Amino acid sequence: MRIGVLGAGGMADALAKQWARAGHEVRIGARTPAKAVALAGRVGHGAAGGTLREAAGFGDVVLLAVLHDGVQDALRLAGPLAGRVLLDCTNPMAPPFERLKTADGPSAARRIADATGARVVKAFNTCHESVWRMTPPVFGGRPLGVPLCGDDEEALAAARTLVTDLGCVPLDGGSLERAGLLEAATAFTVGLWAAGEDPSSMLPPPEYAGGDPRRAGKAVN
Ligand SMILES: NC(=O)c1ccc[n+]([C@@H]2O[C@H](COP(=O)([O-])OP(=O)(O)OC[C@H]3O[C@@H](n4cnc5c(N)ncnc54)[C@H](OP(=O)(O)O)[C@@H]3O)[C@@H](O)[C@H]2O)c1
Repeated sequence: MRIGVLGAGGMADALAKQWARAGHEVRIGARTPAKAVALAGRVGHGAAGGTLREAAGFGDVVLLAVLHDGVQDALRLAGPLAGRVLLDCTNPMAPPFERLKTADGPSAARRIADATGARVVKAFNTCHESVWRMTPPVFGGRPLGVPLCGDDEEALAAARTLVTDLGCVPLDGGSLERAGLLEAATAFTVGLWAAGEDPSSMLPPPEYAGGDPRRAGKAVN
């Protein structure tokens, strides 16, 4: 797969390295092209760096990995993206994680889809960059699940492939309409982590999704 990466920060670094290692062709773009060139050098495996527009034009898949506040600028510099597969890992949040920056309107992913006409999949926003660098991200013997929200089957299939290439498991997060829930869930989770709590402890195993299976058929108050 040809992957264009918009941004040359931590997330771009983590994911570009993984995907280049997995055999994908990677082109990184940044508003300061020298940063993209430098990152491409660190990524290796034939990765190249340049402008945002060059990276956007290169990819079968485009990863948007810039700060939420820079998304509009980055998309303007990236040029036309209508119809393209765009993975959005941005998080519209900041400490103390009480409100999303998008709280008064559509999700970040929806805004990106509306602004570009791209086939957007919300993905890879749930964990710290250091987790995405793990080879593979496996915890207690369980590979990391990666929720995907999107409307386009071809885009989702590409996202699933790239999740699997990390050694992770794609989770069907539903339509792009649900991306706002994923963004909010991530902000809430990060707030728990920041408070020193263990968010993983609040999720019972899937067999408990409808309640305690040992109490099936019994009245539950
Ligand atoms: N870091 C994480 O653990 C993590 C995890 C999940 C999701 N995310 C999300 O992933 C995205 C990238 O995070 P990151 O940690 O990689 O950030 P980062 O290391 O701070 O890098 C941010 C990138 O955004 C670019 N940028 C910022 N403002 C811009 C603008 N106005 N126009 C064009 N480019 C601009 C920066 O370019 P310059 O270098 O030129 O400033 C840089 O390439 C964010 O939306 C973040 O919420 C991060």
